[in-house]
Amino acid sequence: MQRGKGMKFVGDSRVPDKESRNKIPKDYSEYPGRTEAFWPNFLLKEWLVGAVFLIGFLCLVAAAPSPLEQQADPNNSSYIPLPDWYFLFLYELLKYEFAAAEYVVIGTVIIPGLGFGALLLAPFLDTGTERRPSKRPITTGLMLLGIIATVWLTYKSAAHVDWEERAKYSVEAVPDVEIDEEHPGYEVYANNCLSCHGDSLQGNPGMAPTLVGIPYNAEQIKDIAKNGIGEMPANQFSGTEEELNQLAEFIVSTNKQASGEGEGEGESEGSEEGSH
Ligand code: HEC
Repeated sequence: MQRGKGMKFVGDSRVPDKESRNKIPKDYSEYPGRTEAFWPNFLLKEWLVGAVFLIGFLCLVAAAPSPLEQQADPNNSSYIPLPDWYFLFLYELLKYEFAAAEYVVIGTVIIPGLGFGALLLAPFLDTGTERRPSKRPITTGLMLLGIIATVWLTYKSAAHVDWEERAKYSVEAVPDVEIDEEHPGYEVYANNCLSCHGDSLQGNPGMAPTLVGIPYNAEQIKDIAKNGIGEMPANQFSGTEEELNQLAEFIVSTNKQASGEGEGEGESEGSEEGSH
């Protein structure tokens, strides 16, 4: 009770020393190679690298959006599905004889299983304390082998693809048209053709193809409406000759719009023709 007598404590900003002592990094000298404290040195670097990649990917995605393909069409037997680029190497692997047909289990389960299994088990298989890649030849070698194989197989696969042909299946290849529901031919279309060719002429997978981007003129469309074509049965149209004209004109004007022609001129021409 004697101590501090006659003194007044008004506050003390000092923090006990105990905690800061715990923060002093451990001495890593028992681990050969370059070592550093996990916090903050290592984590800060990891975070920086992560941020660079994240921003890089964001820029890449903004500059080159992922290529989407059209809705699947079970009628189209010429379409060959292709995996996304990051799975192309596995796809290419299946073209090798030792990994295809009766050995397909090797290509689909065993080789990928070994590769990804090894990645999972790496911390348990390689328990050495050495951090330098050059002092860990087996791990480094296997990793390099994996990377080289992946890059090579991806390259081989991409080199075989006819990218121009594939561009036809891209969603961008489908012209984006606005359906003019005010057009006198629209009602005729809705009554006769919509059930198969869709409400925006987009077609129906497994039923009927799109009517956007077709190479026919009005006469030919009238003929198809009356007489059918290929798998399309005849006599799909019922109505007057004038309605048939309006219908053909509606499809032709929508097609003109799709090909970029007649945005202004063609449209006014169209509505004139449609109104008489
Ligand atoms: C019963 C379903 C059905 C109806 C209704 C129908 N179509 Fe079709 N249409 C088809 C099918 C299926 C095809 C594909 C024919 C083929 O290529 O074998 C087709 C193809 C077409 C084509 C050719 C497209 C191309 O890319 O070659 C035109 C043009 C067409 N139809 C116009 C019409 C019009 C106009 C009407 C309304 C009068 C109509 N269709 C009603 C099923 C239909």
